[in-house]
Amino acid sequence: MNHIKRMGVLVVFFAGFSFIQDTELSKSIARGKDVYNDFCIVCHKPNGEGTEKIFPPLAKSDFLVKYREESIRSVKYGQKGKIKVNGIEYNGTMPLPGLTDEEIVDVMNYIMNSWGNKSDKIVTISEVKSLIK
Ligand code: HEC
Repeated sequence: MNHIKRMGVLVVFFAGFSFIQDTELSKSIARGKDVYNDFCIVCHKPNGEGTEKIFPPLAKSDFLVKYREESIRSVKYGQKGKIKVNGIEYNGTMPLPGLTDEEIVDVMNYIMNSWGNKSDKIVTISEVKSLIK
């Protein structure tokens, strides 16, 4: 009998845990949308589609999925030089957006979960802080 009770507690615990994570993520995404609209939309466009050969897309970007760390770095430190996104080469410059680490967390969670993108691994403040130049 006791072990059944214990299992019940565990189930409630894990359900609660994933619920908290979900609301954390959705709050971060909501804040990230504002950051995106202020700092990214001019180049990467309202639906993250970018402009072919000039501004790479974020929507369904293979780069964003395959190179998570480099993607966060590009937002933290700027990005220039050759990169390939969805088979198309870009050789431009993304100026340093100048965001706080919190804003980077939020905008990353937004772009990684918008326009058909989906990431089950939430970007955290410690992940962003750990990326030193
Ligand atoms: C002035 C235009 C400009 C702005 C503003 C800008 N970017 Fe970029 N972004 C670029 C360019 C150009 C590249 C590709 C750079 C290269 O060729 O090396 C890029 C690359 C990227 C990449 C990696 C490639 C990809 O498509 O997955 C990510 C992620 C990204 N930007 C996110 C952002 C976010 C988030 C913001 C807002 C905080 C932002 N960018 C603001 C121009 C811009």
